[in-house]
Amino acid sequence: GTTLGQAAAEKGRYYGAAVGTYKFNDTTYMNLVNREFNSLVAENEMKWDATEPQQGRFTYTNGDRIVSHALSRGMTVRGHTLLWHAQQPDWAKNMSGSALRNAAINHVTQVATHFRGQIYAWDVVNEAFADGGSGGRRDSNLQRTGNDWIEAAFRAARAADPNAKLCYNDYNTDGINAKSTGIYNMVRDFKSRGVPIDCVGFQSHLGSSVPGDYQANLQRFADLGVDVQITELDILQANANAYAAVTRACLAVSRCTGITVWGVRDCDSWRGGDNALLFDCSGNKKAAYNAVLDTL
Ligand code: XIL
Repeated sequence: GTTLGQAAAEKGRYYGAAVGTYKFNDTTYMNLVNREFNSLVAENEMKWDATEPQQGRFTYTNGDRIVSHALSRGMTVRGHTLLWHAQQPDWAKNMSGSALRNAAINHVTQVATHFRGQIYAWDVVNEAFADGGSGGRRDSNLQRTGNDWIEAAFRAARAADPNAKLCYNDYNTDGINAKSTGIYNMVRDFKSRGVPIDCVGFQSHLGSSVPGDYQANLQRFADLGVDVQITELDILQANANAYAAVTRACLAVSRCTGITVWGVRDCDSWRGGDNALLFDCSGNKKAAYNAVLDTL
């Protein structure tokens, strides 16, 4: 393959990018998106604040633009994200208890229903575990509605879009550590009790190196019977060895179905001056790009 998407497809995987509709009129950007990637995810357009800015009033225009752009070009779409403690609309931030629980589950049902049949994998729940050594849940308004909020969200998503793969997605879970083990235990519990979960996303916002047990961590989740995906990859100064190592790890785990980078060019990145992506601000391929393509 001569592009990331083609080379990944030859290995039975996808190579995707997070995109923003506010850049869809930038031709350098769109040429890269269309040439290199075979999967897209909305960087912001499908989050709760974007899709339900007022309770019960849903806005899908920008999410729909990304979906139709992708599907019309034969790309798949990751849905990001149905429930998260961040980027909630103000009305939800101010709710609690059963009112918030009902609003959250309604949100899952409405959004997953709107996009039914169009999403390859949904990040049903994003970043619900705490950093550090506890291995437990993050405190949030959603968590305070009861520990079963995550399984309730997955059940609602399955009912709304039975063909989408349903993922749990988080960061700082790239090696074997207390946080990833807490998630591992949740996934094992969900599988044993029949709670619908199909995949785990590893954001992989990385420093300049990859944990030595990165592949082993992906594999232990895959061994639970879920797919794994690298969902938001970016690496400090786009270290080419690290980009290659992530690529190798995914290829070595048969249930690792694809990799998504969190943006296209360095200047599109949420990480500011980290130069963490595969294309420079002019759209030129960086060394990391060649490392990934050579590894695929
Ligand atoms: C980031 C976006 O890139 C920014 O544009 C936005 O201002 C904040 O969110 N983890 C996630 C993503 O799951 O949704 C975040 O995206 C980056 C961290």
